[in-house]
Amino acid sequence: MDRDHFYATMNGEGTLDYEVYLNTKALLSCQKDFKDFCNGDELQFQIVHQVEELWMKLIGYTLLDIDDFMQAENTNRVVTLFRRVHSALRLMIAQLDLLETMSPKEYQEIRLQLGNGSGQESPGFRTILKMHQPLWQSFKSVYLEKHGLTVEKIYDSEYSHSDAYVVAEALAEFDELFQRFRFCHIQLIQRTIGLGAKSLKGRGVDLLNEGQRVKFFPELWEIRSQMTDAWGGKYGVVRDSIGGH
Ligand code: HEM
Repeated sequence: MDRDHFYATMNGEGTLDYEVYLNTKALLSCQKDFKDFCNGDELQFQIVHQVEELWMKLIGYTLLDIDDFMQAENTNRVVTLFRRVHSALRLMIAQLDLLETMSPKEYQEIRLQLGNGSGQESPGFRTILKMHQPLWQSFKSVYLEKHGLTVEKIYDSEYSHSDAYVVAEALAEFDELFQRFRFCHIQLIQRTIGLGAKSLKGRGVDLLNEGQRVKFFPELWEIRSQMTDAWGGKYGVVRDSIGGH
């Protein structure tokens, strides 16, 4: 196949309506020139990171809308938009698989191109990390306090699968998927560069492990343990066998 022809034409002219609307000329120029890649995996490496940044842009923007709709107590909108956030997070997780098609050696070659660049500097990730607190405040004031509810009531003593419960579960799913991204990212690192390298020891691995433990909405996780203890108190720590032995 004619590689030079592909390189010369792949980005298009940028003049057709589709190209103009989607700004494909600029979009397809966001990666290094074909001739500058250090190996056959670098295009994939750049694209996966760039697409992840785009999904994080969409997630952050959608969370702004979710916050507005929570304040208006428009649960239908909140639930639909959370589905969008959850789907985008699932895509972010699934996309990490692509990078597992890159050999450890080829990544070492790419790593030399990154300078001091690190995922810690990701603008999308840093923005999303700051968005859970205002979301929680809106949930607490609009769905709980305004109605005299608590997390305990919506999950247990006054459980009715209410709007507050459904929104709480959407928040929990967002939290869980974000943690899952961090977990799968650690697995990707293990697969690519290993977690025991001297250059990673200390700050790098500690940062990843700490991040993996962060929960956006701890109350939504604590309630499950509290319920297990409370309900467990009724039948004791060791339950009677249901077979009667
Ligand atoms: C082969 C692929 C990858 C490797 C080897 C890798 C490696 C690492 C390492 C070693 C760190 C720890 C911080 C440091 O030492 O700089 C880190 C952090 C990070 N990386 Fe990656 N990464 C990869 C792919 C990705 C992708 C595709 C994303 C997509 C957004 C990403 C986002 C992040 C983020 C957000 C952090 C900060 C982690 C946190 O605060 O929990 N990485 N990465």
